[in-house]
Amino acid sequence: MKTLYMPIDRYAVFGHPIGHSKSPRIHALFAQQTGQLIDYTARDVPADRFAEELQKFSDGGGKGLSCTVPLKEMAWHIAQDKTERANRAKAVNTLVIGSNGKICGDNTDGAGLLRDLTVNLGVSISGLNILLLGAGGASRGIIDPLLAEKPERLIIANRTLAKAEKLAEEFSGLGSIAVLGFEALTGKSFDLVLNATAASLSGDLPPLPEGILNPGGVCYDLAYGNQPTAFVRWGLGVGARLSVDGIGMLVEQAAEAFFIWRGKRPQTCPVIELLNKERGQANYT
Ligand code: ATR
Repeated sequence: MKTLYMPIDRYAVFGHPIGHSKSPRIHALFAQQTGQLIDYTARDVPADRFAEELQKFSDGGGKGLSCTVPLKEMAWHIAQDKTERANRAKAVNTLVIGSNGKICGDNTDGAGLLRDLTVNLGVSISGLNILLLGAGGASRGIIDPLLAEKPERLIIANRTLAKAEKLAEEFSGLGSIAVLGFEALTGKSFDLVLNATAASLSGDLPPLPEGILNPGGVCYDLAYGNQPTAFVRWGLGVGARLSVDGIGMLVEQAAEAFFIWRGKRPQTCPVIELLNKERGQANYT
């Protein structure tokens, strides 16, 4: 009797460090939910081994990769074909490996944030005064999709002003965007404050003056953790209507990648709810 051999399509997330990545769990839940047979693992890959490990993964029949810190910019350089949104972000978080070995890059981070904000949290961006903290890779990936929603104004504040200025210049044709140093924020107020600095990762908080959040305002930290970040706690302390971390964005960007790879769109809310339950947090109140 012949045994039917069904190869399982292989995917992975590469990054460094990668130990606490929730991506394998998220993709396993998506696969279960949509009836897809896939294998998705996490691999610790530092920048100096990225090209070599990617080649090995591709040679071994790998179908796609998620790329996280510190590999997103490098992935953008390596990908042979790139989507428009990846080119605007100059970073890639999703790679598709074609049957001919051709590597295509996309960036689903901005779409993930927007979906979490607008669909899951019900925050309409149009007409809002937005403050974006940070001018690194995380900010670069979300400016374009934020401006596409036509906010009243987007202000970027960064410790190193020159970096924010460069970023604002790059995206200036897409909407109302300006730059301020943290000290110049005194006396200004915003409806939505997004934290895209790396401060949360070390338990720090950018220096934010009092009165910066309008009544009924929303705070969103792109970082996430098993405990509320310093920025999420700050938001709750200054009376935000909502002050949440980026767990929803993480799940949404993964869902978008899953759709690119498998052509199936998983339901994200049950996955977000499960992850929140597991870490003992209710993100959506
Ligand atoms: P990423 O790709 O995650 O955005 P990055 O490119 O290193 O990482 O950018 C990190 C961002 O966090 C930068 O805007 C950085 O400010 P500088 O450009 O002045 O370095 C910001 N950042 C990091 N630690 C911070 C802190 N403790 N307070 C305020 N901003 C901080």
